[in-house]
Amino acid sequence: MASSSSSSLHLLSFFFTIVLAFISVSSGTFKPPKPRVFIFPIKRDEKTHQFYTELDMGTTNRIDVVIDLGGQFSWLDCDQYNSSTYRHVRCWSPKCKATIGGDGASCIDCKEKPHRPGCTRNTCALSSYNPKTNMYKVGGVGEDTMRVSSTDGYVYLTDEDMRRFTFGCGVKGLLSGLAKPTKGILGLGRTPSSLSTQFSSAFKLVQNKFALCLPSPRQVYSGDIFVGGGPYYFVNYMGDASNLLIKTPLVINPVSYPRPLLNSKDFSSPEYFIDVKGIKVDGKPVISFNTSLLSIDNEGKGGTMISTMTYYTVLHSAIYKALVTEFVNEAAAKKMKRVGSVAPFGACFSSENIKNNMTGPAVPIIDLVVKGNNAPWRIYGANSMVKVNKNVLCLGFVDGGSTPITSIILGGHQLENNLLEFDLESSMVGFSSSLLLHYATCSQSRIF
Ligand SMILES: *[C@@H]1O[C@H](CO)[C@@H](O)[C@H](O)[C@H]1NC(C)=O
Ligand SMILES: *[C@@H]1O[C@H](CO)[C@@H](O)[C@H](O)[C@H]1NC(C)=O
Ligand SMILES: *[C@@H]1O[C@H](CO)[C@@H](O)[C@H](O)[C@H]1NC(C)=O
Repeated sequence: MASSSSSSLHLLSFFFTIVLAFISVSSGTFKPPKPRVFIFPIKRDEKTHQFYTELDMGTTNRIDVVIDLGGQFSWLDCDQYNSSTYRHVRCWSPKCKATIGGDGASCIDCKEKPHRPGCTRNTCALSSYNPKTNMYKVGGVGEDTMRVSSTDGYVYLTDEDMRRFTFGCGVKGLLSGLAKPTKGILGLGRTPSSLSTQFSSAFKLVQNKFALCLPSPRQVYSGDIFVGGGPYYFVNYMGDASNLLIKTPLVINPVSYPRPLLNSKDFSSPEYFIDVKGIKVDGKPVISFNTSLLSIDNEGKGGTMISTMTYYTVLHSAIYKALVTEFVNEAAAKKMKRVGSVAPFGACFSSENIKNNMTGPAVPIIDLVVKGNNAPWRIYGANSMVKVNKNVLCLGFVDGGSTPITSIILGGHQLENNLLEFDLESSMVGFSSSLLLHYATCSQSRIF
């Protein structure tokens, strides 16, 4: 009896072994591809001209957050954050040190009961920062699961869990100036705790890089952030749009100002700067300003920054005046008719005799001459002009006064429908110039 039951057990286990072998063979065949690129849709708030994305956080929360290209950390309004998978990061912990840099000695202790996101004991602390109001507030650091779509660049693959996405706890008051639907900030800055750095270490991505493709107004579909890099595919563009990217070195500004930095060892700015060597309008150099404004001095002033928190490019007064003068000259050569200015713009034209073509209004082309290339960052009508009413188009750059910290802040309007790639390992910025030239737009990147 005993021997018969033991042999049937053997038989059973033999059977299971075969089934297991079969399962492992078939799962070998259908092994899911490794996630390569994570994508976050980009939406645009028409009222504030801010770009934002939706994060799928924890157990209950879908949260809209403003995309801050130079943001050191991500933060969420913890007063409105409720998730059972939220965990606080302990002070002095390795994670705390890695997140805030320095010795990780910054702590916050909340004794209120019950504990909730934003009020926990012995918690690693950092300053959540709002670049619109230049306000910041110290709060606890927390982590939670983030669900995000991953793709091989061409076809939809899968949703992945980023298990311990780290962010700061902001409070409701810190949200002022941010687009209505949003409850925090997604920081993409050049830091150890930015979105891209967190994803590349959690998923062992090949490279720590990300790309931005900002949608223009009135586009039905959104643009995208691609964390992990290319390839980039667009409807109507054959092949990988990585091929369109012109590379220029990322410039590191040694001083982070006005952004506050908690990091005690590295005071360099988390923002992305590039070396613009000069400006041309329809091929003619804009020369009537002191070009030392184009480089960053040892106090961190000057230079050219790329920003998603500024909408119309802001120029130092001297550069602004020189650009407007040259643009108006070239416009006159094109028989464009200048009309009264409409604030905040200084050069406006009747739209009557301006033709439209694939890259927008056919106006003089503005070139930013960048380091390391013969090819400039080319700004066509769709990115240079703003339609202020039915009959008037204005040059969409604004005067930043004669004492700005940064001489050129390249803003969202000038970046729309341009593919921009930020490679934190090779320390390079890639730009495509207008995708419209290739019959593509940022809203047509997701084909699934
Ligand atoms: C958080 O969510 C849980 C479960 O959904 C609910 O029971 C609790 O009341 C919520 N807490 C707050 C502060 O909203
Ligand atoms: C340009 O600006 C720099 C720094 O302010 C100054 O040292 C230099 O003399 C200026 N050059 C000219 C030609 O004005
Ligand atoms: C579109 O207009 C630009 C001027 O902004 C001009 O250089 C370009 O040749 C035009 N393209 C076509 C296809 O007409």
